Amino acid sequence: MMDRIILEDIEQIKSNVKGDFFADKKILVTGGAGFIGSWLCDFLIGFGATVTVVDNLSTGRLKNINHLFSNPLFSFVQSDVCMFECDERFDVILHMAAHASPDEYMAHPIETLMTSALGTKRMLELARKSDATLLFASTSETYGDAEVIPTPESYWGKVNPVGPRSCYDEGKRFAEALLVAYHKQYGLDVKIPRIFNSYGPRLREDGLYGRALSRFIMQALSELPITVYGDGKQTRSFCYITDTASGLLLLTANQGARGEMVNVGNTREVTILELARKIKEVTKCKSAIEFCPLPKDDPKRRCPDVSKLVGLVGWMPSVSFDVGVERTVSWFKL
Ligand SMILES: NC(=O)c1ccc[n+]([C@@H]2O[C@H](COP(=O)([O-])OP(=O)(O)OC[C@H]3O[C@@H](n4cnc5c(N)ncnc54)[C@H](O)[C@@H]3O)[C@@H](O)[C@H]2O)c1
Repeated sequence: MMDRIILEDIEQIKSNVKGDFFADKKILVTGGAGFIGSWLCDFLIGFGATVTVVDNLSTGRLKNINHLFSNPLFSFVQSDVCMFECDERFDVILHMAAHASPDEYMAHPIETLMTSALGTKRMLELARKSDATLLFASTSETYGDAEVIPTPESYWGKVNPVGPRSCYDEGKRFAEALLVAYHKQYGLDVKIPRIFNSYGPRLREDGLYGRALSRFIMQALSELPITVYGDGKQTRSFCYITDTASGLLLLTANQGARGEMVNVGNTREVTILELARKIKEVTKCKSAIEFCPLPKDDPKRRCPDVSKLVGLVGWMPSVSFDVGVERTVSWFKL
């Protein structure tokens, strides 16, 4: 639904990103019914692009895009990207489809790997046929339990190749290698943002372990215990959705980013305990903080070095943690 907060936030994206590159383009968004994908669709339609979403609705929600169905510039295909067949040509493909949260990818490890491998191969072939720009949503999880903080793109990562998170981490790492191979072998225009924890309106709030920020908000608003895994000293860097979407769109349009991996995230590192306390403060809830055993291979710290992003597009994520959390809580209260 396009409520006041989302409408204001889309204006914010418009002030960060000039839409000219996207106007009149034919754009395919995989995973467009999901959190980040649906924000991209709102921006693109607003700028006069023709948008096709392909999504199997495994984790996405139709309510994120229902308001777009009446727009002649918008169409929706319910399909798995691994099976998606299409004779159309596109100018840009934004490949966002994935099981993105630990609860979801751990429950569907084979589908998760195949979406990254077969789904990405299919999108690369489609991009090749169309000579399209292809942006692939990669992740900070390609760094695993990083030993270099803030983490630059030159760091190769510390990933358990067969651990509980490997279906996601290694799937994304394989996809990155495949994208770079298509870039080298065929000169395809690929862009590979590594997204660090994004949040905001439309982020799913269910699940037991992943997506701590929206889960904490719902626990707080329901006066349930806020479940922190481990001692809460592990860190994440939370990037508000307007910044994440702006970074992805700026990279899509940027010539210097061809074939490049680029971190997209906020540089403010926050402990999970600090996050829980912040959400208690903003919601004014009386929930207790409950500590649960830390799952295996949970990364200890996560914070991006964004100097490459700044060098390429002359911009960096800047919505403060306080403002982003307040806006997200307000949206969940609507
Ligand atoms: N949200 C974050 O903080 C974050 C961080 C790093 C990377 N990413 C990446 O960004 C992308 C979007 O993440 P999100 O947070 O919006 O997740 P999301 O779960 O809200 O959206 C993913 C969408 O992909 C769809 N999907 C999944 N598998 C599919 C398949 N095989 N075929 C077709 N559709 C499929 C889902 O139904 C959903 O609509 C993902 O690729 C994710 O890995 C997100």
